[in-house]
Amino acid sequence: MPFVQDEAVEKNDSIHVLFIAAEADPYVKIGGLGDVAGSLPLALHRLYNADIFQQKLDIRLVLPYYGVIQQQDLTVKKVCSFSVQTNKDPVQAEVYETTKEGLIIYFVSGDPIPPGDPVYNQNFSADADKFIFFSLACLELPKVLGWRVDILHVHDWHTAIAVHQLKMIKKRDSFYKKSRSIITLHNLPFMGNGSEQALVKYKIKPSTDPTLPDWAQYLPLPMGFAAADQIVAVSPAYAQEILTPEFSCNLHDFFESNQKKLSGILNGLDTILWNPSTDSFIHQTYDRNSLGKKRLNKSEIQKEMGLVENPETPLIVLISRMDTQKGIDIAIEALKLTKNLPWQAILLGSGDIKLEQLCQSLEDQLPDKVRARVSFDPKLSHRMYAGGDMLLMPSRYEPCGLTQMIAMRYGCIPVARATGGLKDSIIDNEKSLERTGFLFETADPQAFAKSLTTALVCFDKNSEWIEIQQRAMQTDFSWAHSAVKYSRLYNRLVIKQ
Ligand code: GLC
Repeated sequence: MPFVQDEAVEKNDSIHVLFIAAEADPYVKIGGLGDVAGSLPLALHRLYNADIFQQKLDIRLVLPYYGVIQQQDLTVKKVCSFSVQTNKDPVQAEVYETTKEGLIIYFVSGDPIPPGDPVYNQNFSADADKFIFFSLACLELPKVLGWRVDILHVHDWHTAIAVHQLKMIKKRDSFYKKSRSIITLHNLPFMGNGSEQALVKYKIKPSTDPTLPDWAQYLPLPMGFAAADQIVAVSPAYAQEILTPEFSCNLHDFFESNQKKLSGILNGLDTILWNPSTDSFIHQTYDRNSLGKKRLNKSEIQKEMGLVENPETPLIVLISRMDTQKGIDIAIEALKLTKNLPWQAILLGSGDIKLEQLCQSLEDQLPDKVRARVSFDPKLSHRMYAGGDMLLMPSRYEPCGLTQMIAMRYGCIPVARATGGLKDSIIDNEKSLERTGFLFETADPQAFAKSLTTALVCFDKNSEWIEIQQRAMQTDFSWAHSAVKYSRLYNRLVIKQ
């Protein structure tokens, strides 16, 4: 029998948050979304356990039960099965449960999530079928479990339909009458194109929100935005940027009309994994008071890469998905523009073949200065953060960005575009002695080269550089900050009932 809960959260009762995402570390991680959905629920769960708040929080994470998760050696138990309605035969869903530090994690399986398939398909309509099925199963699950949902918290287009459907059903479904919703926005250009067939199959009606442009009314991500009680971008600056035509993917008028429910919360960083004083992947551990030891990591990586071992030559690193968003082409051009300055560079990442080739050809053109490693190599990235002096991050847009935070924690100073989360996490203020990095405004090689040159000049002023490194390393990017902000938002939404 489905459980019906009419009452709002009782005083002293915990707030129930159903947190659903397409990926979450350590179970499945393809990109930054996986970092966030892996860390944030756990950070919130820990906060609750630490008893900081009077209001309690019962947060549960739901993920698709991909083949890559099924192959892992996890202790899981089957909790329930039910069916998801379609315009033909219902589709069966089975749900499994595991726990991590007491946090409950559910895995949803069913035919639309074939274990042999990759997490993300090249085939958009197969992904739409998978994620819309998953989103609807996530709405069914709490009813079967008899677990009230105060807040439904979803991420990006993959789970946006859950929020849209919640709004559609809450008028007539007493279980969800008081539930509120949040959609966190990690990447706006991915809206769920190719979903029409799946939307029809699962009987999802278009959005009727008058502030949404026509083209967006039957597209998962905008449908989620329109239905959500709150839209949270992954940095305050990105929440502002999407109000402008340059960053909004044509939704600026919509965001403008919905500004009241739009905010930004900067992501945190896993400060246990990314810690130069305990990192087992690096040659020599160090902290901000023993920066001399960082030099040993530098000479080690110079040796590993076959570059001249010289502590005085600034070592620039680029660690990135090879994607137009990340401005790899801008970085390559800026490096060419500054090729007469004394620097060495190591470029690491994989993705777009053209960008991979650009990196490779820079090594061919400047064999004494550049090494390109076209691969996804997390262990090498640790050694590069530890050995590098500067990190290049010329993103065209960057909702939050993680690499700059990791680099700063390792005293590897970012030279980055002043956009989104980069703007919110890096301080470029020469005068007030607060500088933790170097920012440039326009996404072009000249502007980047100028900023890089300023950084290179500063590198030569040894004591000034060390101060920048120490400040960067001291910046607190731990998840607790973001978790507190999200928990306040949960509280506000629930109290507003
Ligand atoms: C996306 C964004 C990136 C952000 C990440 C996690 O990958 O491009 O900027 O850090 O999501 O929110």
